[in-house]
Amino acid sequence: MIEPQEKPADSTERDRRVLALYEELLEIEQRLIPTGLHIFGRVPEQGARADMLRMVASFPRPEAGTRALTDLVAEKLGLSAYDTLLKAAAQDRRSLSDRERVDALVSGAIETFTTEGPEAAVAWLETNAGVSAEDSRPLFTLLEKVSAQLNTSSELESLVRALRGEYLEPGPGADIVQNPNILPTGRNTHAINPYTVPSEIAFTRAYRAVNRLLERHFNENGRYPRAMALVLWGLDNIKTQGEGVAQALWLLGVRPVRDALNRATEVEVIPLDKLNRPRIDVVMTISGIFRDLFGTTMGLLDRAVRSVAELDEPAEMNYVRRHVLEQVGDGGSTFDDAAVRVFSNAPGNYGTNVNFMVMGSEWENDDTLGDLFVTRKCFAYGRDSEGRAIEGREARLCMDRALARVEATYQNIDTFEIGITDVDHYFEYLGGVSKAVEKRARARPAVYLSDTLSPDAKIRSIEETVRLETRAKTLNPKWYEGVLRHGFRGVAEIESHVTNTFGWSATTGAVDDWIYTEVAKTYVLDQAMLDRLRNLNPHSARLLVGRLLEAHGRGFWVADSHIIEELREIFTRLEDSLEGVF
Ligand code: BEZ
Ligand code: MG
Repeated sequence: MIEPQEKPADSTERDRRVLALYEELLEIEQRLIPTGLHIFGRVPEQGARADMLRMVASFPRPEAGTRALTDLVAEKLGLSAYDTLLKAAAQDRRSLSDRERVDALVSGAIETFTTEGPEAAVAWLETNAGVSAEDSRPLFTLLEKVSAQLNTSSELESLVRALRGEYLEPGPGADIVQNPNILPTGRNTHAINPYTVPSEIAFTRAYRAVNRLLERHFNENGRYPRAMALVLWGLDNIKTQGEGVAQALWLLGVRPVRDALNRATEVEVIPLDKLNRPRIDVVMTISGIFRDLFGTTMGLLDRAVRSVAELDEPAEMNYVRRHVLEQVGDGGSTFDDAAVRVFSNAPGNYGTNVNFMVMGSEWENDDTLGDLFVTRKCFAYGRDSEGRAIEGREARLCMDRALARVEATYQNIDTFEIGITDVDHYFEYLGGVSKAVEKRARARPAVYLSDTLSPDAKIRSIEETVRLETRAKTLNPKWYEGVLRHGFRGVAEIESHVTNTFGWSATTGAVDDWIYTEVAKTYVLDQAMLDRLRNLNPHSARLLVGRLLEAHGRGFWVADSHIIEELREIFTRLEDSLEGVF
């Protein structure tokens, strides 16, 4: 956020601020948001299809022999690579206008493609940007295939075939930008071979994200975090071939080693003089789905931690060793107990239940949500030093001690489709573990999320991510008009975004007051909007108003007393009308 300043700034300073503001606006404008829900069996509309194609075209795809359209254009204009341009654009006007030129040419090419076809786009790009047909044709050939697949849907037919017990062709599960081979939809989604995780590509990509993360923490705190808690999910690691796993390995300073069958079954330590920084202690909090799908990877992560703990290295360069030795030295802990870092639910159990407790307003004490997280997730996985398998042994004390050292929490976000206020699972996990750390470490951790799909692997704080999601979705007319087309369900979607935002207040305190104020103004204090919501779905409308009042009541939202009074009156009227009292 750019804070307003009282003192008039000199012109250089003013330019810098205007550029920074412009950058923020661009980021919100260019964020790909789903404008409405997917309707089973229906293909995306023209505008949404063009947006997806633009994003697909903005990444290099060596497997398809194509380069990023942004890079092709930047290169022909004699500019640096688009990543570099993006970074420079935040600093100086010239780079910003260069970036705008590239963006405009890319949009022009995609528009020509969607209206007149691939050959027209190839010619357009040659005339307007000097990109040769030879360079751009492979990309438009790919886009033509993607576009055709986006334009057909066999979902309904496939469902019927599945119900008849017939064969369905398999297809990978992923994000379309991440992997366009997920198309066509309506196939039998398959996962991956867990032994391939993390892939080489995931390991390379993870390097960038981890460096950005550590760099940011260093710049803001003057040193690296000594211990971090990571959230690892199953479906995300399928989609990214193990990007989250690879990030954990990088933080520890180890790399996967493949056996004769090309399976990642071992790790190799990266020497400190290559790593050039301390090894970070990592507590892994893992979903039940990950545990079920990636048993072999759970073992790899546990082995990685234990190998690092055993290295004969100085304590200030190896925080895992430092913490394990300290814990053993304090007495009462064996090496095995002090080195437990891989935690998930008890076998057969899933989820943290933090989301249910938040949605049901069932907690009173500030510690309850974090304690619930630990109760659900304190089961250890791996092997002890004798090689005996530990498969979900309750280890609450080990988890308490590991979390007590954590200074930063983190989750890898790998999709454009689902953000941190779209579903309750992000706050139940990343919020839940952050709340557990807050009590045990007696300080709120820094909470980070990555955006590994952005070309420059951005790292954002939870505060920044909540602001961005709120501006791009919850308060964006394009988004809410999109979901309101779905009537009853649309109002439920809006309410659910507000409740998920509230979940971030409950677990991390990362939601600014203005967010609730603007939500109230947009959906409740605007009479026409309130009438629409009430007519479409009075239950969700009442829940939404109730949630805003709860945010105020719990001290998450410092609001103008007039606003609160008005909300209370509206809430009572909504309740009365639902109960049939007028
Ligand atoms: C998972 O993929 O592990 C996951 C999916 C949804 C909610 C929580 C975890
Ligand atoms: Mg769910």
